[in-house]
This record gives sequence, C-alpha cells and structure tokens, in this order.
Amino acid sequence: MEHDIRTFGDPVLKSRATSVKDFDESLERLSEDMMRIMREHDGVGLAANQIGRLKRIFVAAYEDAEYAIVNPVIEGRSETTEKDIEGCLSIPGTWVEVERSLAVTVTGQDPSGTPVHIEAEGLLARIFQHEIDHLDGVLILDRTDRDSRKEAMREIRERMLTRK
Ligand code: CO
Repeated sequence: MEHDIRTFGDPVLKSRATSVKDFDESLERLSEDMMRIMREHDGVGLAANQIGRLKRIFVAAYEDAEYAIVNPVIEGRSETTEKDIEGCLSIPGTWVEVERSLAVTVTGQDPSGTPVHIEAEGLLARIFQHEIDHLDGVLILDRTDRDSRKEAMREIRERMLTRK
C-alpha cells in the first residue's frame, strides 16, 4: 500500500506535528488520502502522524458526518470526564481505558483554510481528543493507568515476538 499506517515503536508517533501554513492542493490531497486510508482500515479517526506526515491535520468519521480538521485547538472542555475503552489503528489489537472530557469545543480550519468551530460530545469528543493527542505525539498508552499500560506493553511485546 502507498501509505502504510505507522505502528507503535515508530518514532513519528511520539513526535509533535507542526502547524499547517499552506492551504494548497497538496493539503487537500493529504486530507483525501487520510480519509480513504481511515475508511480502508475501518477507523473512526486518523492523524497525519499515523501515515508518517508531521502536519497538524486529522480526519474523523462519526455517524453520517466526516471531519477533516487542520491546526485543531481544544478551546474548551467539560469538567465532567468519562472513562471508556479505546483502540488505535497504530496499536492494533490493544484496547485500554482512557479518561476523556465528555465534551470539547474544537476550533481550527478545514483543508481549504475556512475556520471551523465544533462543539463535540460523547464519542465524537473522544475521537477528537484522541486524534489531537496524536498530533502532540501522545498515545492511548500514555493516557491509561499504570497497570493497564504494563499489561498492554506485555501483550504488544508478545505479538511482536510471535510475528517474527
Ligand atoms: Co490512534
């Protein structure tokens, strides 16, 4: 495949993506590629880091809506948080509990440069927080509790060994 999804251990996943300044054709193409790759892998979100591009853009799909958000910023969040199980296309087979704000307000731009402002709650808010974490080099393993992280790391190591 042209763009393989980068998996755990790849340093690009621990790197901070840089702000997008040029809203040009290549950004539109990147956003379309990301949407396609996300769909091919049955994902609900994908950040540029995950295909090896350190640009601040992510895509997401929730219910009937698709989102492509550039330079996203969490402007506000609910005090209420909720713990739920999350997976990640970059850590296949691993599911851990992550505490997230129940609602967030996200601003940014669409790939053509038009400002966007989205009030998200529930699963959509969770997806946005997960993808924005990716752009900061943060993974679900960094967000779960110590015991879950240890257990997940053990499983990941076992999977890597049996794959070889
Ligand atoms: Co992820």
